[in-house]
Amino acid sequence: MEWYRKDLAYIHDVGHNDYALKSAPGILSILAKHNIHDGLIVDLGCGSGLSALEFTAARYRVLGIDISESMVALARTRVPNAEFRVESLFEADIPDCHAVVSIGECLNYLFDPNNTRTKLIQLFQRVYNALAPAGVFIFDVAEPGQVAQGTITKSFTEGEDWIVLVEKQEEQTVLTRRIITLRKLKEHQEEHYRRDDEVHRLRLYEATEVAEQLRQVGFQVQVMRCYGNYDLPKAHAAFVACKLPNDERI
Ligand SMILES: C[S@@+](CC[C@H](N)C(=O)[O-])C[C@H]1O[C@@H](n2cnc3c(N)ncnc32)[C@H](O)[C@@H]1O
Repeated sequence: MEWYRKDLAYIHDVGHNDYALKSAPGILSILAKHNIHDGLIVDLGCGSGLSALEFTAARYRVLGIDISESMVALARTRVPNAEFRVESLFEADIPDCHAVVSIGECLNYLFDPNNTRTKLIQLFQRVYNALAPAGVFIFDVAEPGQVAQGTITKSFTEGEDWIVLVEKQEEQTVLTRRIITLRKLKEHQEEHYRRDDEVHRLRLYEATEVAEQLRQVGFQVQVMRCYGNYDLPKAHAAFVACKLPNDERI
């Protein structure tokens, strides 16, 4: 079973690129404010490399990690001068770096069966250990409240050669998105739509809970509802978790 397979990866790249593209200027200014002007950024859940392209254009080096082969294939084509790995961010080695980012609720996904609350705290610790003193971890999560409890919402979005239908339901703190993709293809002069189905489950985290866990690991934490001028969608929180400059534990 693979997620963000070929058609959903394509549709996310061409039709749902707002989050990555509009958050990039805000993220770059957070890095500058923390005096991080070069060095390595590790992008966890890098998707199709939209953020990686912005970071390399600003002269950072980038290592992108994503569980989806199709996403990573797009990223490698888009940003040939960055490095990408197909791996779970909950398992991957995080090399010494100046910043770690994770944009677009990547930490919420339950694709990796090892994504437990304990694994999330271990991830915070691994990021902390990998960061240079005064390094930053910038990421966002989806919180409970995506959909009213007990209701199911259905919506669709379309582009030139694709349609995506999404059904959402939130039970306790798990959001289930049932996704149908339709991609227009032309074969032997005839057009048809190829269908694919994916089910994504996300564990939703309260911002206060996440901030507390980051503090316990040793980070200084700021919780935000935007990246610069880009306001996050409803019930999303972003974090700037900073390792203190005098921490020499790496
Ligand atoms: C909503 S997309 C965001 C992609 C990209 N950061 C962006 O903003 O365009 C979420 C991404 O997280 C990745 N992902 C989810 N769980 C993951 C895991 N355990 N390890 C690595 N990547 C994961 C998915 O494959 C997908 O590319």
